[in-house]
Amino acid sequence: MGLSIALVGCGAMGSSLLKGWLTLSDTKERFANFWVIAPHREKVEPFLKDPRVAWIPSPVQLPQTPDLILFAVKPYHLADILPHYKAFNTLFISVVSGKPLSFYETHLSPSSLFVRTMPNTPVSIHQGAIAFLSKFPLSSQNKQKLESCFRGMGFSFWVNSDDDLDKVTALTGSGPAYVFYMIEAFAQAAEALGFSKETSLQMAIATFEGASIYARQSGQSPESLRAQVISPHGTTVEAINVLERGDLYHLMEEAVKAAYKRAKELAHEGQNI
Ligand SMILES: NC(=O)c1ccc[n+]([C@@H]2O[C@H](COP(=O)([O-])OP(=O)(O)OC[C@H]3O[C@@H](n4cnc5c(N)ncnc54)[C@H](OP(=O)(O)O)[C@@H]3O)[C@@H](O)[C@H]2O)c1
Repeated sequence: MGLSIALVGCGAMGSSLLKGWLTLSDTKERFANFWVIAPHREKVEPFLKDPRVAWIPSPVQLPQTPDLILFAVKPYHLADILPHYKAFNTLFISVVSGKPLSFYETHLSPSSLFVRTMPNTPVSIHQGAIAFLSKFPLSSQNKQKLESCFRGMGFSFWVNSDDDLDKVTALTGSGPAYVFYMIEAFAQAAEALGFSKETSLQMAIATFEGASIYARQSGQSPESLRAQVISPHGTTVEAINVLERGDLYHLMEEAVKAAYKRAKELAHEGQNI
């Protein structure tokens, strides 16, 4: 029998997860039901053609206790939302940034089975990065539920503390936005050299995609792969010199630290990432 999942929130992250689950090659065997709890039906509409997906506006309408309940809402909504789920005795998962495990113990129940996770939007095409954190070791049944939920959705790993999860939030959680920003910059540079918008974007995507897949498959370090493109007195070294003068390493470190700082602030306030 497949898993039944209640997905609370169907915005950018919730819908990325749902799209990923519905398109896994063994999705039919793995998942029986998705009850999507969201204030507005429109967000869920594109998924309703799959008979396993149903929209419900509130947890009161859940037809049975789901195998797991996953929260994908904004951090500032969480304190109001969690008490409505107190009555369910099941595995809870949250993708919400910043809020530590203790927050769920306070607003849900100290004895709830709770896993914090940090996925990213490429889970929608099974190319995500997903970190997990739990206070207690999971029973084999709950391990199996978590595994069924995330197997094949991307690179997954466990961390040991809320602080580590906040760091991951700043790295792989927000990271796709950094990469999209670099793709935009690369495409804009191509346009500045006179290529059309469409060709510029395709060149940027092909370059980032090809280099990322090559970095993963070649078994060589990025430094070594970079050295193979650069020849002394050639063209590439001129560009790398410009990037080094702009201190890209330092900029990236500062960017990630700023996002990490923001994730820590979210623990104490209600703001978006
Ligand atoms: N986006 C990312 O790349 C990313 C990555 C990692 C983690 N996260 C985390 O994922 C969480 C969601 O982020 P997001 O980007 O998906 O935000 P989002 O696009 O704003 O989605 C949040 C959704 O929650 C819905 N919602 C509001 N009140 C609700 C309620 N009472 N019950 C059920 N659903 C409710 C909203 O519905 P309406 O819009 O219809 O009001 C909205 O669609 C955040 O905590 C964020 O930190 C996001």
